[in-house]
Amino acid sequence: MDNLRDLLIDELKDLYNAEKQLTKALPRMAKAAGSPKLRDAFVDHLEVTEGQIERLEKIFAELDMPAKSKPCHAMKGIIEEGKEVLDMKKEAHPAVLDAALVAAAQKVEHYEISSYGSCRAHAEALGLKKVAQLLQQTLDEESEANELLNTIAESGLNAAAAGAEEEEKAETE
Ligand SMILES: [Fe+2]
Repeated sequence: MDNLRDLLIDELKDLYNAEKQLTKALPRMAKAAGSPKLRDAFVDHLEVTEGQIERLEKIFAELDMPAKSKPCHAMKGIIEEGKEVLDMKKEAHPAVLDAALVAAAQKVEHYEISSYGSCRAHAEALGLKKVAQLLQQTLDEESEANELLNTIAESGLNAAAAGAEEEEKAETE
């Protein structure tokens, strides 16, 4: 890897793998969500993610490269942490579980926003306008997903999770 184009391709392979990992994790997250809004957000994001995989294939074609993936260790780690959240499903208060799911999902979105942001900047630096434009579309979708998670968390979900603590206190008193 001795030039920026190679670096860009390497980053795209990483993202291609990251998105594929995510398509497997999102249905599990949707299933675990108690809030219907949160569940819908995960279901919708699965569809968006499938579109992003197709967009990455378009980008590889644009670069005259086969669509290949390389293991994304970062996404694997973030998803593994998410699994820890799913494992506490039985013991956790449903509202707290939802708050934990939002936090896990936002880690995914922030990772993707940062990776797509770097890729777009590298594509721009290389004068690859079409590639940069496609990456920007995905970047916008990831930002939207992140904003939606903020909105869901702030529209009662975090408050309900905070209330779970009050319930617990009242029970032990
Ligand atoms: Fe994505």
